[in-house]
Amino acid sequence: MSGHGTPIPMTALKSGPLKGRAEVPGDKSISHRALILGALAVGETRVSGLLEGQDVLDTAAAMRAFGAEVTRHGDGDWSVHGVGVGGFAEPATVIDCGNSGTGVRLIMGAMATTAITATFTGDASLCKRPMGRVTDPLALFGARAHGRQGGRLPMTVVGAVDPVPVRYTVPVPSAQVKSAVLLAGLNAPGRTEVIEREPTRDHSERMLRGFGAEVTVEESREGRVITLTGQPELRPQTVAVPRDPSSAAFPVCAALIVEGSDILVPGVSQNPTRNGLYTTLVEMGADITFENPREEGGEPVADLRVRASALKGITVPEDRAASMIDEYPILSVVAAFAEGRTVMRGVKELRVKESDRIDAMARGLEASGVTVEEEQDVLVVHGMGPGGVPGGATAATHLDHRIAMSFLVLGLAAKAPVKIDDGSPIATSFPAFEPLMAGLGARIDRSNR
Ligand code: S3P
Repeated sequence: MSGHGTPIPMTALKSGPLKGRAEVPGDKSISHRALILGALAVGETRVSGLLEGQDVLDTAAAMRAFGAEVTRHGDGDWSVHGVGVGGFAEPATVIDCGNSGTGVRLIMGAMATTAITATFTGDASLCKRPMGRVTDPLALFGARAHGRQGGRLPMTVVGAVDPVPVRYTVPVPSAQVKSAVLLAGLNAPGRTEVIEREPTRDHSERMLRGFGAEVTVEESREGRVITLTGQPELRPQTVAVPRDPSSAAFPVCAALIVEGSDILVPGVSQNPTRNGLYTTLVEMGADITFENPREEGGEPVADLRVRASALKGITVPEDRAASMIDEYPILSVVAAFAEGRTVMRGVKELRVKESDRIDAMARGLEASGVTVEEEQDVLVVHGMGPGGVPGGATAATHLDHRIAMSFLVLGLAAKAPVKIDDGSPIATSFPAFEPLMAGLGARIDRSNR
């Protein structure tokens, strides 16, 4: 839903050891894809463990507007009666994707090769984000898009009447762009090829195969070449959504920096295209064990046992960026409590997320007494060691859930409380963040003390 309710100022205070079990919500990327592919299959798809965050609820509402029947049966338990590839109806109203770049970009792809017209909007954050990165390749299929200056929402997409398959090299590492092209390719005859120079999260490829589409992946000199054969009949599936490694990052990182902590975060996806943060934390000296590794819903998962740790700053390799792109805000918080500098390179995509995350983290960390260096594509945090971060500031969250949660985690280990101006966006990805963190012993409240 677009628009923005009343801001919710929040405060995090220095907390005692975090202890216990943290059951984080279902994966956001997989949840969006389960609803969209369910809507494109004929028959009933069942989904368990769906993330019921606002971003995903907005995608569910959008799928209804395109003609699918989407029903909630209980906690995380949903069904989708799909309309088939090419079966989307023209929505009668504007599609409001709220805060979700993934929602709007994937849905644009999914409708772009059907002869219907849809108008998309979102909240103030989403209306600032670039859509040209998806509408450019969608134009190659024959779709047209008319938006605001700079390719911003609100935007109307006129689907192609006679779509043609495309071969497209994604110019920026983006799973959203890759996925939009693949979803558009579903209703184009023949083979659509997407080439990515750097591998990004591969949930679309995995799930498309699961729904019966023919998808091949080849490594070539140009990069990963993903080939989809168009106009398949997608078969409805039972999708078990694993827990979100990007949401797990918040309790995990909190436990690492709050002295004496020892927590268990069960059933977290360990998909190699998503686990760069965990590799990085281990390199920094984090005491994390990956227990009971297994496969759930087609994804590798493990239970994470995390204990507070003495950490050292490192240089995060640039080629790891895509596998931890959403985790740099919380990594920069952890880096503030490490000994030495943490250097994060190749991170310019952070500037076009729900907010400019390099800028948001740099300003908030500086206000809390941490030295930060920032370039267009680089963020460097000078660690102050355990217990060394002064805190005592109010951070601006810019309608960005991950900025909000990152600064609350900072406040749990800083000397003085850390406030955020608005915690309401947390509901987009992690609605139970406050009770979950409270259950571990974190002191976070909705006050502006
Ligand atoms: C996502 C892809 C990433 C990520 C986002 C989810 C996805 O965005 O930041 O939170 O589900 O495909 P980009 O494609 O812009 O890198």
